[in-house]
Amino acid sequence: MIKIAPSILSADFVNLERDIKAVSAADWLHVDVMDGAFVPNITIGVPVVQSIRKCTDMFLDVHLMIEKPDRYIEAFAKAGADLLSVHLEADHPSGIARALDRMEEHGVKKAIALRPITAAEAVLPYVKDVDLILVMTVEPGFGGQAFMADQLPKIRKIREYINEFNPACRLEVDGGIAAKTAPLVIEAGADTLVAGSAVYGAADRSAAIAALRG
Ligand code: DX5
Ligand code: ZN
Repeated sequence: MIKIAPSILSADFVNLERDIKAVSAADWLHVDVMDGAFVPNITIGVPVVQSIRKCTDMFLDVHLMIEKPDRYIEAFAKAGADLLSVHLEADHPSGIARALDRMEEHGVKKAIALRPITAAEAVLPYVKDVDLILVMTVEPGFGGQAFMADQLPKIRKIREYINEFNPACRLEVDGGIAAKTAPLVIEAGADTLVAGSAVYGAADRSAAIAALRG
């Protein structure tokens, strides 16, 4: 089943509660955490995740675009994240392993994320052990960028790895997902679609979410 995860990066932060309720037709809520170092933008941190947790029962899919993410796994888990994704480029393999161990310890779903430059093969050491793999279809850092179609072969390849090694693992895509690009990523094997501007840029958010489901 396809899951839709609206990204609150495109919400109005002054009216975050209103904008979270506005996407209740979706499955998950995608929260983009950026540190101004791993990516050239700073967004939200632990206290905001804590507040979001108080105002919704939606599954919180927290995308960590931060360096050495193992330092913050416990804090985001305690703040109420249901799933945490860490970028493979954000630390040495030992740091990524530590981050995944912390997630296990704190009972959150474990995910790894890949920048567009990172090859599909990079997931091989992790695929058996994670709940989700996130393929970025734009350079991480900002909402509203154009979808990178050159990521489609990578999505296909990771889908093959998942089918072979861990069929329960979800395959999420993030960046430039809209009604036109959603069928492409679904056909390539994605089952979880993040969308920021395509949902929050639409007057009717429920209709935008339905359009992404195809
Ligand atoms: C970008 C973020 C995305 C972003 C997607 O670094 O990870 O989640 O909000 O925004 P759209 O859907 O507008 O490309
Ligand atoms: Zn994201």
